[in-house]
Amino acid sequence: MTKTLFILGRQPIFGMAELKSLFPDNTIEKMSENIISINRYVEPNLINRLGGTIKIAEEIASIQNINNKSLEALIIENVLSHIQDLPAGKITLGISYYGNNQTVRNIEIIALKLKKSLKQSGRSIRIVPNKELELSSAQVFHNRLTKDASFELIIIDAGDPITFARSIAVQNIESYSSRDQKRPYRDARVGMLPPKLAQIMINLLNPLPNQIILDPFCGTGVVLQEALLMGLRTIGSDLDNRMVDYSTRNIEWLRQKYNNLPDCQISDGDATSHHWPKDIDYVVTEAYLGKPFFQSPSINSIDKEKEIVGNILLRFLKNIQPQIKSGTKLCIAVPTWRYNNKFIHLSILDQLVQIGYNPMSFKNLETKDLIYYRPDQIVARQILLLIRK
Ligand SMILES: C[S@@+](CC[C@H](N)C(=O)[O-])C[C@H]1O[C@@H](n2cnc3c(N)ncnc32)[C@H](O)[C@@H]1O
Repeated sequence: MTKTLFILGRQPIFGMAELKSLFPDNTIEKMSENIISINRYVEPNLINRLGGTIKIAEEIASIQNINNKSLEALIIENVLSHIQDLPAGKITLGISYYGNNQTVRNIEIIALKLKKSLKQSGRSIRIVPNKELELSSAQVFHNRLTKDASFELIIIDAGDPITFARSIAVQNIESYSSRDQKRPYRDARVGMLPPKLAQIMINLLNPLPNQIILDPFCGTGVVLQEALLMGLRTIGSDLDNRMVDYSTRNIEWLRQKYNNLPDCQISDGDATSHHWPKDIDYVVTEAYLGKPFFQSPSINSIDKEKEIVGNILLRFLKNIQPQIKSGTKLCIAVPTWRYNNKFIHLSILDQLVQIGYNPMSFKNLETKDLIYYRPDQIVARQILLLIRK
């Protein structure tokens, strides 16, 4: 049976949750901390809508009890047998080793031996040098290792068996940076959502094409942008007119770069009292995150922010509850504050059942652990997944 491997990003729990949501009927197996396999084929271009996966690979061999054969011999064997199928011309080869039993030097030596045997067989080859055991997505992308006469061999050495795979897709780092840093209207003060996290949040709800996503705290419009690129219709609103203008202009910019994007309506509105058009299928939003903190705040300042932010969120959820159908799913990024190496969560989270929402769940995954942060961040984003009762 075809097995597809997913090399997950910086916080693997997000990649895992996203794939569980998109493939509810398939067996998902954890191969290591940041690699999972799914027992089905996927189109390589799926990578363009996955925020939590950096490479997709197809399994080529799974070998048990390798003790009697060296890893070196196996790598050479696997590359040689697959390289015959590549189109004519110079081959570019990369090796990514995911495990703890090799050094970069060993991988380099194996690569040199491979180069020698391939040259002897009459094919010229260029090898992408390993800075680390794994090639980064930037190296795979810039060396076009998933295209034409190229090959990235992926070795997963996380106990028995050892798996060999070939990458079929890598995240397009240029497209992400363009959709993030090159947007004409940005405002660091509102805490713009990374496009990858917006994709993950949308995927956690697994909407169908053409359904309608609402972002009632749309800011500069990252959720709207990513939803449109996935073929979803969108509605955005924000309390601040300047943000409405920014989102509108950013979406105009997006339409110049991509053809045939679906409909997007943006208006001003206070999320705690606004009435949106009917027929909202999903809500995906990054709510107001409160004051940004750059240095460790006192517990009093955190409590103050918790109160303000919690109040807006609660009033928003009460306002929208009667406007959406029972069963409507919501994915909301809310702040959680790092204090003394722990997270301080919003207190209102315990009241959500009383005001008409149930928590969403995934098999074998604690959604309370969906906290997106960078190591130096004080205000992290907790991802809430709710279903309107
Ligand atoms: C964290 S930002 C959202 C950023 C957005 N995800 C982006 O990518 O730019 C929160 C937004 O909520 C808006 N906001 C704050 N209180 C609001 C309210 N009561 N109703 C609607 N929008 C509100 C702010 O103007 C701000 O744009």
